[in-house]
Amino acid sequence: MGQFNFQKGVCILVLFISLRCNMLDASGADDDEVVIQGRVFIDGRSAIAKIDSDFVCATMDWWPPEKCDYGTCSWGHASLLNVDLNNKIFQNAIKAFSPLKIRLGGTLQDKVVYQTENNPKPCVGFTKNTSVLFGFNDGCLPLSRWDQLSNFFRDTGAEIIFGLNALAGKTVVSGSAVGPWDSANAESLIRYTVKKNYTMYAWELGNELSGSGVGTKVAASQYAFDTMTLKNIVQEIYEGVEPKPRIIAPGGFFDANWFKEFIDKTPETLDIITHHIYNLGPGVDQHLVEKILDPSYLDGEADTFKQLQNILKTSITSASAWVGEAGGAYNSGHNLVTNAFVFSFWYLDQLGMSSVYNTKTYCRQTLIGGNYGLLNTTTFEPNPDYYSALLWHRLMGRKVLSTNFTGTKKIRAYAHCAKESKGITLLLINLDNTTRVEVNLSLNNTWIVHKLKSGHHHHHWRKGYRPRGSMIGGINSREEYHLTAKNRNLHSQVMMLNGNELTVDANDAIPPLEPVHVNSSEPISVAPYSIVFAHLPHLTLYACSN
Ligand SMILES: *[C@@H]1O[C@H](CO)[C@@H](O)[C@H](O)[C@H]1NC(C)=O
Ligand SMILES: *[C@@H]1O[C@H](CO)[C@@H](O)[C@H](O)[C@H]1NC(C)=O
Ligand SMILES: *[C@@H]1O[C@H](CO)[C@@H](O)[C@H](O)[C@H]1NC(C)=O
Ligand SMILES: *[C@@H]1O[C@H](CO)[C@@H](O)[C@H](O)[C@H]1NC(C)=O
Ligand SMILES: *[C@@H]1O[C@H](CO)[C@@H](O)[C@H](O)[C@H]1NC(C)=O
Ligand SMILES: *[C@@H]1O[C@H](CO)[C@@H](O)[C@H](O)[C@H]1NC(C)=O
Ligand SMILES: *[C@@H]1O[C@H](CO)[C@@H](O)[C@H](O)[C@H]1NC(C)=O
Ligand SMILES: *[C@@H]1O[C@H](CO)[C@@H](O)[C@H](O)[C@H]1NC(C)=O
Repeated sequence: MGQFNFQKGVCILVLFISLRCNMLDASGADDDEVVIQGRVFIDGRSAIAKIDSDFVCATMDWWPPEKCDYGTCSWGHASLLNVDLNNKIFQNAIKAFSPLKIRLGGTLQDKVVYQTENNPKPCVGFTKNTSVLFGFNDGCLPLSRWDQLSNFFRDTGAEIIFGLNALAGKTVVSGSAVGPWDSANAESLIRYTVKKNYTMYAWELGNELSGSGVGTKVAASQYAFDTMTLKNIVQEIYEGVEPKPRIIAPGGFFDANWFKEFIDKTPETLDIITHHIYNLGPGVDQHLVEKILDPSYLDGEADTFKQLQNILKTSITSASAWVGEAGGAYNSGHNLVTNAFVFSFWYLDQLGMSSVYNTKTYCRQTLIGGNYGLLNTTTFEPNPDYYSALLWHRLMGRKVLSTNFTGTKKIRAYAHCAKESKGITLLLINLDNTTRVEVNLSLNNTWIVHKLKSGHHHHHWRKGYRPRGSMIGGINSREEYHLTAKNRNLHSQVMMLNGNELTVDANDAIPPLEPVHVNSSEPISVAPYSIVFAHLPHLTLYACSN
């Protein structure tokens, strides 16, 4: 650590001359650090997938403060029914995305009753009852609270996906919920919402009732019928009303047979098919960090994305796939893992991998609440994953490029065309504790668009144009964002960007996320246990130029 402090001293001396020194400081070059070389290959010919420009989504849930897992109660006042909508950090955190998609739902959504106008019946929240499904009695959403939430979402520029109560009217018979969905209560909420001019991005039906279900399940054919009911209601209520909301289902775990049947039976109905991801196991698992740092464990999820993509490709449906809820570790996550720096390895890898398989949007469980919030449940301060999400949102464009990495399995590499900017953005994740990786870029030379300097405004691409290392980006520089954990502690809830702590300021504003500029002739240096976003503005690939 002596060297670390020495570097810090030098940094103070040259602080005003060189920002890059800070970045080196962040890496905290250790005596036992090993440097290896690696190569990222990007195919510039054509995009392999296209994500939504508002790909980043986060969830808000219904869990009351009494929701506890393994003896800890991690939800506090983070429920849709009680979260503080006047909190300035909360508002600024959402506004920073303009727009952030927010999916409202979770386990209890199927037991929510919506208050109706002129109804004298009391409308109260969830109460604990261990003898009923999901451990809580039915809860009620007051229309006054729906007004507050809707105004909050409008003011913060959020795009809302509302998960409706798919179990209404059904009878649970030995683990299966049977009978048609009673849509009357949902219909009244939708009518009220339209009357009040609250814009909805989508209405989603049900939560985790697909396949073998969680708590209970619904057969695919019945689900297709219920989804058609929702579609008909929405069509009728939104007649002459714009914009039209999308129809989303089933918000459950992927099960190939169930999903195939459901998709085949909803070709005219469904806009988006949603599935949930908790691939790390229960929050109580003591090996979450080992799993997150294991590249083959991370690769395990690719198969689900691939299978769903194949079902969609071979069906007549025009629906696209979303991850509708993903918290990694179920039962509310694990404190100091799923809300700490280390979780950005899992989260950003998931964003990258899901994009490769043409997932259009990825909803993180949660925006706030449980042990996996992007925001701290009590202080609303951003956790590390919040900043990871924001950088992704600002830098990774819609077009996904075919990318692979050689040199070490511990580097995860993803590339997209840059967002609202020229060039490409690379995302490099280093899962190794002691190895620094110097990354060179290889391109399929055929597909580089070479901009002529002669005043022509149009682009040319030249066969055989061969960029040497020092020619990539010419004499120019690129922008790099190096993310590390404070004090190299993977369990830290403080994210460092280029060596500087990220925190909200005294006015509760989200800090600017400033890059360092690096000479394009240098390899990208990825420190141990770090994440790098590199924006290469001068590298125009054929895939990104049209
Ligand atoms: C990366 O580029 C540098 C400088 O151009 C070169 O010295 C090094 O050998 C390259 N490494 C690999 C793995 O290609
Ligand atoms: C809990 O649920 C059971 C079964 O529905 C019901 O009989 C009982 O009254 C409920 N208890 C409370 C305290 O609500
Ligand atoms: C909703 O919008 C319509 C048309 O713009 C307007 O006439 C109506 O007053 C609005 N209703 C509310 C509750 O704001
Ligand atoms: C929220 O932040 C406070 C203050 O930094 C910290 O003590 C607490 O552990 C955090 N809570 C969670 C659930 O991360
Ligand atoms: C990377 O992709 C290139 C081009 O598609 C291919 O030639 C190469 O074999 C791939 N390398 C690996 C390790 O997959
Ligand atoms: C990573 O390396 C540091 C310094 O060498 C060490 O203190 C720490 O325990 C290591 N972390 C893990 C998770 O192996
Ligand atoms: C580069 O692209 C061309 C044309 O698509 C293809 O024939 C060639 O195999 C690619 N080269 C590599 C190394 O992938
Ligand atoms: C970038 O590095 C190259 C090779 O070392 C050097 O010739 C060039 O002057 C550098 N550019 C800048 C802007 O520092």
